[in-house]
Amino acid sequence: MQRSKIAGIGYYVPKNVFTNEDLKKYMDTSDEWIQERTGIKERRYADRTGETTTTMGVEAAAIAIERAGITPQDIDFIVFATLSPDYYFPGCGVLLQRAMKMKEIGALDVRNQCSGFVYALSVADQFIKTGMYKNILVVGAEKHSFGLDFSTRGRNISVIFGDGAGAVVLQPTQKDGQGILSTHLHSDGESAEILAMYNPGTHANHWVTDPVAKFDEAEMGQMFMSHAMIDDAQNFPNMDGPSVFKKAIVKMPEVVHEALTANGLTAADINILIPHQANLRIAQFVQQKLQLRDDQVYNNIQKFGNTTAASVPIALCEAWEQGKIKEGDLVCLAAFGSGFTWAGALIRW
Ligand code: ACO
Repeated sequence: MQRSKIAGIGYYVPKNVFTNEDLKKYMDTSDEWIQERTGIKERRYADRTGETTTTMGVEAAAIAIERAGITPQDIDFIVFATLSPDYYFPGCGVLLQRAMKMKEIGALDVRNQCSGFVYALSVADQFIKTGMYKNILVVGAEKHSFGLDFSTRGRNISVIFGDGAGAVVLQPTQKDGQGILSTHLHSDGESAEILAMYNPGTHANHWVTDPVAKFDEAEMGQMFMSHAMIDDAQNFPNMDGPSVFKKAIVKMPEVVHEALTANGLTAADINILIPHQANLRIAQFVQQKLQLRDDQVYNNIQKFGNTTAASVPIALCEAWEQGKIKEGDLVCLAAFGSGFTWAGALIRW
C-alpha cells in the first residue's frame, strides 16, 4: 500500500518570551512552583494584534512547504488542528488557504486539542494512502495567550500554556519501508468536562456539572455568551489537573505500545519519542514506563510551555533541525489531552 512521508517540516514561535517571573506580575505563583510541577521556565506569547493562530500557522507552513521543495499552489489539501481558532467559525484552514493564496482546495479543521496534530496527521495519511491527494499540509497552531485567566484564580492552567505553530507536508513515498507506519486514535468522552472550555457554547448547562450562569426569558439572545458568564469567569478553560495527569501517564505509554505491537516492534527500536509537551513530569513518567533512555525522548516544554496542537510538530521539527532524526530512524509520536483524546503514530523517517 502507498505510504505517506513527511517531505517538509517547519515551526514558528512568537518572539515575545514570557518567563515564570513575568507571570508573577499577574498572579500569585512562583518560578519554583512552575518548574517543579511542570518543568516550564518560559513560554512565548503572540503579538497582541499582529499575530493570530492562523498567521503563526502560515509562518510554520511556509517553512514546511519550502523544505518539501514545492509551493503553496502545489498543496492539494489542508488539515488544521487548533483549539484556539481566530474565529468561532469559520476555521483556520480556510484562513490559511486565503493567506497563502492556495488553490480552491479542501480545508479541514480538527478539534482534538493536545492530540489534534496526531489526529490531523492520521487524517492526512489516509488521503495519501488512498491516492486522493499528493501534497497535504498538516498544521497545528495555538494562540492560547488570548484566552487564559491570568489572575490567581486561573493559575493552574495559565502558567502551562504557550503560543506557537508547527506544520508538515505529507507526500506519497516510493521508498520501501519508509513513511508513516501506522496511526492509533482514541477517545473517552466520560471525562469531557475535566478539561474543557464551556463557553461560548450551546450546552445550556446540559452536560456541565459546574454551575454556570442560569438564563431567563430576558436573556434570550445572550445564551451563547452573556455578561454573567464573563463576570463569572466562565469564558476561560477549566481543568482538573491531577485527573488529567493520572490518565495521561497511563494512556500515552499504552498507545505507544499499541503502535509498536501493530508493527512488530518494541520500545528498544524507537530512535526518538516525541511526546506531547503537556508537562515535563508526564513525559518523564512515560519515558520511565517505556524504559527509554534520555536520548530516546525529546522535550522542549522548558522553553515553549504546552502549545497543545502545536507541541508535537514544534518538538518534531526542533529535533530534526538538531540532527536528532535521521533517515531510517523510527520516530514515535504520542499525545494526550482534553476530550479525553489520545493518539500515537510510528514513522520510519
Ligand atoms: N502557582 C502556585 N501554586 C499553584 C499554581 C501556580 N501556578 N497552580 C496551582 N497551585 C496550587 C493549587 O492551588 C494547590 O494549592 P493547595 O494545595 O493549597 O490547594 C497546589 O498548588 C497543588 O495543586 P494541584 O493542581 O494539585 O497541582 P499539581 O501538582 O497537580 O500540578 C498541574 C498542577 C501542573 C496542572 C498538573 O496537574 C498537570 O500538569 N496536569 C496535566 C495537565 C495536562 O496535561 N493537560 C492536558 C493538556 S492541555 C489540553 O489538552 C488542552
